[in-house]
Amino acid sequence: MSDSDATLAIDRGLAELGDSFRSAFAAAADEQALRDAQAELLGKKKGALTRVMALMRDVPAEERPAAGAKVNAFKEKVEAAFQARLRELAGAQRAAELTARPYDLSLPGRVPEGRGHLHPVLKTRDDLLTIFRDLGFDVVPGPEVELEENNFTKLAFPPDHPATDMQDTFWVDVLDAEGKPKDGRVLLRTHTSNTQIRVMSSKKPPMAVVSAGAVYRRDDDLTHSPMFHQIEGFVVDEDVSMADLRGVLAAFAEGLYGAGTKIRLRPSYFPFVEPGAEVDIACVFCSESDGTRASCRVCKQTGWVEVLGCGMIHPDVLDHCGIDPTRYGGYAFGFGIERIAMLRYGIPSIKLLFENDPRFLAQF
Ligand code: PHE
Repeated sequence: MSDSDATLAIDRGLAELGDSFRSAFAAAADEQALRDAQAELLGKKKGALTRVMALMRDVPAEERPAAGAKVNAFKEKVEAAFQARLRELAGAQRAAELTARPYDLSLPGRVPEGRGHLHPVLKTRDDLLTIFRDLGFDVVPGPEVELEENNFTKLAFPPDHPATDMQDTFWVDVLDAEGKPKDGRVLLRTHTSNTQIRVMSSKKPPMAVVSAGAVYRRDDDLTHSPMFHQIEGFVVDEDVSMADLRGVLAAFAEGLYGAGTKIRLRPSYFPFVEPGAEVDIACVFCSESDGTRASCRVCKQTGWVEVLGCGMIHPDVLDHCGIDPTRYGGYAFGFGIERIAMLRYGIPSIKLLFENDPRFLAQF
């Protein structure tokens, strides 16, 4: 009995395909080309072998096992050849990677353009904190939104002190769950002295602490900004004297402007210190001997620049924080960082420090 037309057509189809797939696979230079060549044979609709296999439909049942075996054997040959070439290509690629010229790790890197740096106020802050850290002070943080208690009351400000006025201080409305203002007044701290209260209320003496951060006042002109930065420092221990305070401030002035920089203390008033003083540093921008004093705008021809407030912590303040004023004493000082930065860099207006003009900031 001779084979059906369908079986004959399959035989012819396979014979026509022959070994051509081997050269097609060998010619494929990469994996994609190899997969394309395989699709020519086995693609779902148009693959040449797919079309031959489709003829199986017309093969009579008794011829099917034999015809099927032939088709499958052919397909397996194709698959084996495909896998072999795939391995070959992968091996060749790996070999090329391994023998390629290695990366030159000694090439200089690209320098990023327009890299930023610390703002002059923050740079000054860090330099100042370093001076105090070197003198043995601990650096602590403090909140900018504060209770009236910590900013004024416990620092012995009387309730009618002008600083507590609406004209001077930014008060904050704190609302309860129903949206009604809560009891207990809250404000943007007007100075960093709130950290004195917080630290002295939570730690036992001895302590030597500095704290830096933003403070807020209703103040706005060439040398004042509604937001600026302060550094606060204080020491509480047995036998602390005004001489200790003066010694630390003298060391601070020398750390800032170099050895031999002079300071002077003038009596002044702050509710939370007694006695209180204002500290001037000798002007480093002019001198009497070379005649530059007469035209100096920084010290206004006085030879002195006012930089900070200080004093011996008032016994009432120690008492408010649970520290026994008969046993312990302390001193405190506070100053504006912008003012020091302006003196240090010769910046004429505080506004320049907050406009964030890159032409200005790039100069530091
Ligand atoms: N808190 C004062 C101010 O902001 C400065 C100060 C601090 C004065 C500590 C005395 C002692 O003006």
